[in-house]
Amino acid sequence: MVVLKKYLDRLPIPGKLKPKCKTKKETYYEVRMLQAYQSLHRQLPDTLIWGYEGLYPGPVIEANRNEKVLIQWENHLPEKHFLPVDKTVHGAMDAPEVRTVVHLHGSKVRPESDGFPEAWFTKGFEQTGPFFDRKICCYTNRQQAATLWYHDHALGITRLNVYAGLAGFYLIRDCWERKLNLPKGKYEILLLIQDRSFNSDGSLFYPSQPQPPVPGVNPCITPGVDGDTILANGKVWPYLEVEPRKYRFRIVNGSNHRFYSMRLDLDLPIYQIGTDGGFLTAPAKLYELILAPAERADVIIDFTGYRGKHLILRNDAPSPFPSGAPVDPETTGQIMEFRVILPLKDQDNSCIPDQLYPVTPIPENLVKVKRDLSLVVRRDQYNRLEFLLNGKSWHDPATEEPRRGQVEVWNLINSGFAAHPIHVHQIQFQLLNRQSFDVQHFNQTQELVFTGPPQPPGPGEQGWKDTIRSNPAEVTRIIVRFGPYTGRYVWHCHLLEHEDYDMMRPLNVVGRKGTT
Ligand code: C2O
Ligand code: CU
Repeated sequence: MVVLKKYLDRLPIPGKLKPKCKTKKETYYEVRMLQAYQSLHRQLPDTLIWGYEGLYPGPVIEANRNEKVLIQWENHLPEKHFLPVDKTVHGAMDAPEVRTVVHLHGSKVRPESDGFPEAWFTKGFEQTGPFFDRKICCYTNRQQAATLWYHDHALGITRLNVYAGLAGFYLIRDCWERKLNLPKGKYEILLLIQDRSFNSDGSLFYPSQPQPPVPGVNPCITPGVDGDTILANGKVWPYLEVEPRKYRFRIVNGSNHRFYSMRLDLDLPIYQIGTDGGFLTAPAKLYELILAPAERADVIIDFTGYRGKHLILRNDAPSPFPSGAPVDPETTGQIMEFRVILPLKDQDNSCIPDQLYPVTPIPENLVKVKRDLSLVVRRDQYNRLEFLLNGKSWHDPATEEPRRGQVEVWNLINSGFAAHPIHVHQIQFQLLNRQSFDVQHFNQTQELVFTGPPQPPGPGEQGWKDTIRSNPAEVTRIIVRFGPYTGRYVWHCHLLEHEDYDMMRPLNVVGRKGTT
């Protein structure tokens, strides 16, 4: 293990991507995936990464609501992966080793542009997966202002491609957001939080075996990889100098497997104003912000009155969450540092509005279908853990085939020991409640016996969500209106080692008569 000193490097601010061409009708971008070397910490030699435009994190893409954005994603990566590829997992057996496909996480998009895991392509589009349909993806951005992120989604190697650096921010803006008088410009900061481990030569360390190793498979996927350092925007333990005023932070947990339970020194409150899919109805004042992989939080922190202070953003989420090994307070227990040492440039006229944007509940009387979906784990032929949704693997025929426009309730039944962040493509849903149940009884009889009343969503979860924490020994109930598009999507666990093996399922949104 390499020991790195904390708070040596400044937080990088990712730059905005410029379009190749912009007309009244549409905006066109080209984004190349490139191999590059980048400094991730001052004490480390430069690190080999894969990044969009050669940058980790990738450039920020900003769109206005209803703006039509076209992006040609291009793979310029080498043919060999620099991280250990397990050829026994779905999609990696008989396909080219380095494949890519981009998913814009959180967007309402037609299936051809959604980054279906089997719509992959190799360098120069030389080879393409069975569901590859087009070189240029189309994002219509017909949804409210929100913090989205784009990342790789290639079948069987998503965990490696994202770990290598293939992730970036995508923001949707709208006039409602502009009217809210939130901190903006240099007072609006994006934070992509991820964990990584390093070899002493500066290269990324990703284990090729779980502990203990699995005989007969090498490299072998593990049940989840946690890094021993925490990065924000591609720097290990950075600092940010701030003025004594309000700042807006748009936080994405882009880690493969690690959850964060964040809090600030001196008990500085975190005002959450938005979730995955947009604003909350009203801000939630938090002293602890839990983010599972792929969840987002739009927050305001007010440094007024903290002049001269150094405040650490800490993490105390065990991994696996919530009852695994505790974090080390000196390493993974810290994320970054805020130094309130810049003079106040102008009076801070921004505000934390009382009302943000109304989140209208999806009426429960519209529910047509209720599905019980269990999160399970079994042993495969090599006796290693294989995580499954409803006992089915990726290649089993689709069983979730909601009709367009239909409202459903999904009961996510987690009878395991750790939480799984469950993500559904194309739509934003709402969390109804969570309820604990007798796991032993369920595992013996498949019957749910509840051991407590339903618990309402936490204050920071009362908005539009596309990824939800499904806690162990709880049924997590979400309400979803499917559509507007029909076609083939996916839903999956966003712990990337689970998603790759084998906790991902097709999701077929069908037309009114059951057709696509
Ligand atoms: Cu962020 Cu299906 O992924
Ligand atoms: Cu999982």
